[in-house]
Amino acid sequence: MLNVAILISGRGSNMQALVRESQKENAPFRVVCVLSNKADAAGLAWAQEQGIHTVVVPHKDFNKDRQAFEQVINEKLQECGAQLVCLAGFMRLLTPWFVQQWRDRFINIHPSLLPAFPGLDVQQKAIDYGAKLSGCTVHFVREEMDHGPIIAQAAVPVLPEDTAETLAARILKCEHQIYPQAVNWIAQNRVSIINEKVFIADAKAPQSLTNPCAE
Ligand code: GAR
Repeated sequence: MLNVAILISGRGSNMQALVRESQKENAPFRVVCVLSNKADAAGLAWAQEQGIHTVVVPHKDFNKDRQAFEQVINEKLQECGAQLVCLAGFMRLLTPWFVQQWRDRFINIHPSLLPAFPGLDVQQKAIDYGAKLSGCTVHFVREEMDHGPIIAQAAVPVLPEDTAETLAARILKCEHQIYPQAVNWIAQNRVSIINEKVFIADAKAPQSLTNPCAE
């Protein structure tokens, strides 16, 4: 059983998808902690209702001393026995020190087909660029933001009438599929990183791997 910690800053819908997956019979992972840098993050209340241990580490308490902030987060994660850390809309950049502490045990979800459109407001960026496909990516975290070995992706069409909101909603549905899937694979010990590329043992057909949202 893999112990998973989830870091959030807001509504936490991906966190909810992971928790729900962990509550299924025979799930190979459990959520041992939901941690937020914001006391009013909507997702925290939901996690508490589920009986999950929650922790708040307000970044504002640390006067821009990022490493001191991260040291406390690190201690909290150790205390709850986390073995895998999942970013789920955690809106603070983490330093190379923290990334190194959790290297290969630290993953993120991002609402674009990386390496296209890292950063913020990426649905609008995909529309403005005229991309015909966007999607989402689960990847191991490396020092560079929204960068690292890709575990799973799902592609989503960008429609002519899309706004950032409609596209984000379509992508989010796929996020809720591929994030639990990726954590399951890791918890089942099926994921290896070779030369910064991810290989999934006993994966089904490539289509189901790369685009579980395809209709
Ligand atoms: C999600 O769309 C996630 O992919 C994105 O923030 C949103 C959080 O929503 N993450 C990033 O942009 C990371 N660069 P949620 O709180 O409902 O899971």
